[in-house]
Amino acid sequence: MKVLIIGSGGREHALAWKCAASARVTEVLVAPGNAGTAVEPGCRNVDVAAEDTGALVSLARREGVALTIVGPEAPLVAGVVDAFEAAGLVCFGPRRLAARLEGSKAFTKDFLHRHRIPAARSRTFTRSSYDPAWLDSQPLPLVIKASGLAAGKGVIIAESHAEARSAAAAMLGGRFGAAGEEVVVEEFLQGEEISFIVMADGHHVLPLATSQDHKRRDDGDRGPNTGGMGAYSPAPRVTPELHARIMSEVIEPAILGLAGDGTPYTGFLYAGLMVAADGTPNVLEFNCRLGDPETQAVLSRLRSDLTLLCEAALAGRLDTVSAEWDPRAALGVVLAGEGYPDSGRRGERIEGLDRAESLVRNGSGKLFHAGTKLSGSDVLTSGGRVLCAVGLGRSVADAQHVAYRLVDVIRFPGMHYRRDIGQRAIARERS
Ligand code: AMP
Ligand code: GLY
Repeated sequence: MKVLIIGSGGREHALAWKCAASARVTEVLVAPGNAGTAVEPGCRNVDVAAEDTGALVSLARREGVALTIVGPEAPLVAGVVDAFEAAGLVCFGPRRLAARLEGSKAFTKDFLHRHRIPAARSRTFTRSSYDPAWLDSQPLPLVIKASGLAAGKGVIIAESHAEARSAAAAMLGGRFGAAGEEVVVEEFLQGEEISFIVMADGHHVLPLATSQDHKRRDDGDRGPNTGGMGAYSPAPRVTPELHARIMSEVIEPAILGLAGDGTPYTGFLYAGLMVAADGTPNVLEFNCRLGDPETQAVLSRLRSDLTLLCEAALAGRLDTVSAEWDPRAALGVVLAGEGYPDSGRRGERIEGLDRAESLVRNGSGKLFHAGTKLSGSDVLTSGGRVLCAVGLGRSVADAQHVAYRLVDVIRFPGMHYRRDIGQRAIARERS
């Protein structure tokens, strides 16, 4: 069978690599892909943008694609799954109405409230209902969020009322376009942030191996928030007790709630949670897709055939399958380009890729590409997150060691990465 992966990041390289490893799969197409998927055995890049729904449908038809997996959120929120289904094609991901869970924070706050899923208290404003006096009456810090997709930049943690008002006013004034037409203002939650990712088939849920990412750009969890500077799996923080609470208090009510509301959810579902001191898993956000870079660590440990799991989910049979995991830990370090998370210079030549590949030829890790492109025989940077070096090992500490050996042979101008990925998990391992 042929598989199509939509997207071009590190998550999509990991999806393509995993699908290409399946004995059932003859070829994996990646639209548009990156320099890593261009040379990955069994994979072929196709120059179609992830947002060009019509061209993606034509591509899947023309190539006889049997299964499409969508990587990023934007096509899902725009309804790519609905378009594939209307054309009689098989596509794994939530339909447009279910993808509102990521596409509209205002929708999600209302949904969480109606289904009694733990989350920060909040109010949603539009330009006409905006009430700065209410903002001024709230305790600080206050969290101000653009409701729609804002590429990870739509959340401001305001330390003063003036800052809160100016953030809300800027969003309502069009700073994020339509994404800021509604603004969610919520209380600041304390705790430890974790991610929890599952597959869902509308009614049943298959949790993936646990993982945790590092969102801040710099060592010691300092610097600006990013999409993720590294991740590891398993996450020792997610004890069996916490796992059970997340499933029963967040994931199951969310999937049942969506089914009950007439918008059943099929696809990967990512819950961003703030675990309070008493263990309550408060929902910060839902994503309607896999995490990046969590996927690179999690799929490095998946032993089951991902295409079979997706097909089971599409058939509503997730309750009849299970996923097998490599008992080793995986840890991925993101190599970012100059200025990340803001834009900086691109088109820099990356050195050391062959050496890095040779270090992990024995299966002890994998170098995933993200913002890279081929130029003749050179690989150049083309995005903020450039590569993700994943190591596997008997412990998170061992996996970290392998990952940084990979990092140490790679160079490009402006390269930035964290030196402390996995440090908290390693401290937990040792205690
Ligand atoms: P979101 O996109 O809603 O997950 O927000 C982005 C980041 O802002 C999260 O990963 C958290 O680090 C932080 N954040 C969001 N909401 C809150 C909150 N209510 N309390 C504390 N931190 C938050
Ligand atoms: N690593 C966070 C995300 O994918 O949203």
